[in-house]
Amino acid sequence: MTRRDIPTEEGPHGDLLRAILAAPDRDPMPFAHPVVSWTDRDEDAYLEAIEACALASIRLERRGREHGDWAELDPARCPIRPGLPARGTRAFQTLCAERWHAARPIVLRDIAGELLDAFADEIAEAGGTHESLCERGGLAAWFAERAGLVAPDFEARADRVKLADPERDIERVALQASPPPGASAAARNLWCKSAWLSTHPEDRSVRLRFGHGKEGVDDGDRHILDHRLVAELAARLLPETAVATANPALVQLVEKLSGEPVLFTQALAYWNAPGGGALFHHDAFAEDAADDGSFRQLGVCYVQLSGATAWLAISTEDLMARIREFAEALEDGQLPWVRAQIFESKACPFPGGWKRFTALIGDSDALRRELARPGCGSLGPLVDRGPEFTAFLADAGHGAVLRPGDAILLPNSGLEKTCMHSVFCAGDEVAYSISLAMRPDREAPQVRAALDARRRERFEEKRAVRAAAPRSPTARKRSPKR
Ligand SMILES: [Fe+2]
Repeated sequence: MTRRDIPTEEGPHGDLLRAILAAPDRDPMPFAHPVVSWTDRDEDAYLEAIEACALASIRLERRGREHGDWAELDPARCPIRPGLPARGTRAFQTLCAERWHAARPIVLRDIAGELLDAFADEIAEAGGTHESLCERGGLAAWFAERAGLVAPDFEARADRVKLADPERDIERVALQASPPPGASAAARNLWCKSAWLSTHPEDRSVRLRFGHGKEGVDDGDRHILDHRLVAELAARLLPETAVATANPALVQLVEKLSGEPVLFTQALAYWNAPGGGALFHHDAFAEDAADDGSFRQLGVCYVQLSGATAWLAISTEDLMARIREFAEALEDGQLPWVRAQIFESKACPFPGGWKRFTALIGDSDALRRELARPGCGSLGPLVDRGPEFTAFLADAGHGAVLRPGDAILLPNSGLEKTCMHSVFCAGDEVAYSISLAMRPDREAPQVRAALDARRRERFEEKRAVRAAAPRSPTARKRSPKR
């Protein structure tokens, strides 16, 4: 059933909000502020109940499509307050481990908050970087300004650069990486590219991505040395990635969850612009199905550095269950326009219509495979359907808002058991963030030690310089709400 069909008793003001938050099938993301959807057609009592405990109201719009409004609630003033373990306790660890192994998202509010000040200048400069990356030549200029940070270990190559995705890619820089101390391998090919997140003319969302080898082919390969060099390159060019990689609380948690040392690599810097963001997708590779997965990517760690983003994040298995629940509501005649528009009109975006859809969602293996396809395959028109499906997932507990210092872990156990996610810019400010893939760190210990020592040294140097310097007038100001 959808939110408006949750039975409420006649009675005290705000019952619908209480009913949504306490619904037995609501599965809220622990540690994230509670999120519910609202519309201006809702009953006054519901809106007043939300207003009494709201931290913020967030209008969701992406690529010209309205996804409705969310209220981010203050857990301390909510009518229903979930009991959650404190960070660092055994109960916290157990809860995180359960979610990690089920490929459910793990929100870590303010886990990087204390480190943001050390990178206040980089974070403030990111706004200008976004503007320049939007233009052809901007990435080359960005690299040229920073050549001293990477030479002589990384040098730009003069190869003719072909864009893998000419519609969205803006620019690409190819680099040659010298092997690190202790490694006998020859020089490796690395790259960095700037790209739009979409082709929508009003979406200024951009990402900067670091990788190696042949894009799309080698992204998920097992050459840990290449992944390590990509990590090193990103650490030099985006020192703010240290809010994750040199964050003891975060690293210790991830390494406990994975049971071994973890390498944070394949960095991305994201600028989610108002009206932009990412459609439902996953970050898993086909590598997982190819063998026992022992060196596979473990997941992705995303940290918000400025602005705010709104997320739907949910395991493949849970998304399958929610799609079936939503389909039942449509079958019962709720939201009739949704069924008509997606499955029954002449311009039906779901190939095969309602009949094929019900057959697909009745076959778990086929549904899992479909969700693993780019854009969630034929299910894209449903899972990216706003505002109805977006509101349905948020009211079921799968929405979260990330603000500066917050992180989200997106665990991954293969193409068909991963953490699916959909991202919106929350607010009028371009939201800056970093995202890193997590992989088992099993390189020769001397190579790892040499590079880790160099990284730590650079981080400490940075901290010392920051501590000695007068505070930048452009440094980030923390929200009084935090
Ligand atoms: Fe992603």
